Amino acid sequence: MKPYLKENEWSIIEEGFDPAKHEISESIFSIGNGHMGQRANFEETYTGSSLQGSYMAGVYYPDKTRVGWWKNGYPEYFAKVLNSTNWIGLRIVIDGEELDLNELIVSDFVRELNMREGYLKRSFKAELTQGRQIRVTATRFVSIVQKEIGAIKYEVKPLNFSGTMEVTSYLDGDIKNTDANYDEKFWDPVNTYLKENRASVTVKTKKLDFHFCSTMETHIVKNGEVLDLEGIGKEGVKYAGVKYKAPLTENESITVYKYAANVTNRDHDTEQLETVSSKELNKAVEKGFNQLLSEQADAWKEKWLDSDIVIKGDVAAQQGIRFNIFQLNQTYSGEDARLNIGPKGFTGEKYGGSTYWDTEAYCLPFYLATAEERIPKNLLIYRHNHLEKARENARKLGFEKGALYPMVTMNGEESHNEWEITFEEIHRNGAIAYAIYNYVNYTGDKSYLGEYGIEVLAEISRFWEERVHFVPRKGVYMMLGVTGPNEYENNVNNNWYTNRIASWTLEYTLYVLDYLKDTNEGLYNEWIDKLKLQEEEMKKWVDIIDKMYYPEDKEEGVFLQQDGFLDKKLMTVNDLDSRHLPLNQNWSWDRILRSCFIKQADVLQGLFFLNHEFDIETKKRNFDFYEPMTVHESSLSPCVHSILACELGYKEKAYEMYLRTARLDLDNYNNDTEDGCHTTSMAGTWMSVVQGFGGMKVVNDQLVLNPFIPGQWDSFSFKIRFRGARLMIHVDQTNVIVTNETDKPVDIVILGDKYNLKGVSELKVSH
Ligand code: BGC
Repeated sequence: MKPYLKENEWSIIEEGFDPAKHEISESIFSIGNGHMGQRANFEETYTGSSLQGSYMAGVYYPDKTRVGWWKNGYPEYFAKVLNSTNWIGLRIVIDGEELDLNELIVSDFVRELNMREGYLKRSFKAELTQGRQIRVTATRFVSIVQKEIGAIKYEVKPLNFSGTMEVTSYLDGDIKNTDANYDEKFWDPVNTYLKENRASVTVKTKKLDFHFCSTMETHIVKNGEVLDLEGIGKEGVKYAGVKYKAPLTENESITVYKYAANVTNRDHDTEQLETVSSKELNKAVEKGFNQLLSEQADAWKEKWLDSDIVIKGDVAAQQGIRFNIFQLNQTYSGEDARLNIGPKGFTGEKYGGSTYWDTEAYCLPFYLATAEERIPKNLLIYRHNHLEKARENARKLGFEKGALYPMVTMNGEESHNEWEITFEEIHRNGAIAYAIYNYVNYTGDKSYLGEYGIEVLAEISRFWEERVHFVPRKGVYMMLGVTGPNEYENNVNNNWYTNRIASWTLEYTLYVLDYLKDTNEGLYNEWIDKLKLQEEEMKKWVDIIDKMYYPEDKEEGVFLQQDGFLDKKLMTVNDLDSRHLPLNQNWSWDRILRSCFIKQADVLQGLFFLNHEFDIETKKRNFDFYEPMTVHESSLSPCVHSILACELGYKEKAYEMYLRTARLDLDNYNNDTEDGCHTTSMAGTWMSVVQGFGGMKVVNDQLVLNPFIPGQWDSFSFKIRFRGARLMIHVDQTNVIVTNETDKPVDIVILGDKYNLKGVSELKVSH
């Protein structure tokens, strides 16, 4: 499909209505605030193809797993974030004729996602029968200030007639997930009520007892006056609506304001939900739409101060990166350690809104550099809170000790739909350990290690200890029957990445234990007691570190993705006729699994994570060997390649890889944006700019920048928070300028030279 969105630095704009693109736009124009989010569905009735989607963070359902042949160890259920009460509904009937863009002639259609201020706006002209025309302008947002509030301003102007408009403002809780395994409905009714211009619907999940109450109030305004209209209420099962009849006068606007308070018993007492939502609603109504919207704009301004990336000389790139940052900030705001980041955010149902290793491997760096420390810390605490479940998970699979975190989870339990691919991807345990290192390395907050980190690290280490086995014949430890990050090979032996990240976890855990012993012996002893850590165990870890087997080919000078990799028929993606691509849509699973083609970074993922351990030549040889066989059929793949290519000086490759994710959803590159946006890969795109083009890393507590700028750009700049300072790094074709916006001085190494950047100052280095 040809790109259809207008390029603009701060907004996503669609001009003209094309029903064939509507579901793609519903994903792209989604709005969210960390607490809730929704697809860009129309407020009024739309009978064309659409995925009506409204999601409340953390409200999920354990849908029964669907498999053909049950095996021991399968997860009992597949968790999914629930599609919830539709609170935006406005049924508009004009002189008996329903407003439905699927039925009417539509012109002047413009849809805008304003990323600077955080709202969605749509305007259009529709032609009713007898040539009667109306103009509609609808603005909607979910507040990032009052998280439970959503507000709509819906303006209707009859252009060439006067008449009557009926508006039914409603809440509909009778909603179904499109991805339900057995086509079941997951919500039961609890209560509905109507009171003057208010209505409320409370529903609860059939399992787990999540309660969700949505309460709304509607005002209709003409000529600046709220009309005193008698609403006719209608209650149904999981439904409540109020119908108003208002006079339409030619060329005069009539505006419907709808406010909704959406609260759940995750945050409030079940018994109090109606009261709480009513109180929240009072606050919102008192402020009114304009004040709520201006608070929204101010709050977004603050977010952009921390996280904006400015690209000059390429509007499409500018729009792409801002879109990614906007979606990340809409998805996770970090106040609630019970929440995490689903691969599609609030933009669709694929992947069930669950937590994957994506969070630790891809998303954490964004929040580390753009938000207060407590926000990325909450992502780590989320896993700490799930430690007991991870221990149980390991027991379920037959391990005597240690913890195996799930590949897909909502509450700490494994909850995926598939077997080898997901189940055997035990490498995720390594990413969870690595995230602790990454957090401490970036923030310098070593207190985390003694507070929470060591417990998670020790339990993951114990898992690796039991999962490897010693092969006396060869004198090495091996790990058989795993799936590495490359999901196009399953059940392989000695995946290099998994072996390396496992052994690295043991090294890091021992380092942390030493650090605690040296700095706080009391605390060290407490952990040794609490974890019942034996001297023997630690010795065993050292032995594993010393004797871990890493498949390698000395001749090629590369690490082998797995034992049998070189026995495959080796080809490059360029050897394939393009009609074979993407492989996952054209080849049988059998053919994919035995081919050499790689879905996403695997060995290279290890070189990216443990970058400091390998010299440039090693990275180059492995990159040159694996990249040509990589089809990048996971959206998480190109960013890792782009960052490594930057380091290796492969400038064109770096830019080519960057382009593959930067506008992935805006240009519907993978032809699947209607399922939702690739939210977690957006964090990868951010990494490509900051860690790739910016060459930002932290080495031994030292901030390092090695920037290079793609020839296509005039300049780019990004913001980072670093240990109490906020820096803006600007790179143009000749200079790197670092501005310290705070009082805190920072030591920084730019292109190999060390500088001390004083508070509120600027440093210019040519490159
Ligand atoms: C990738 C996984 C990822 C998952 C969710 C899959 O396609 O291969 O690495 O965790 O998507 O984003």
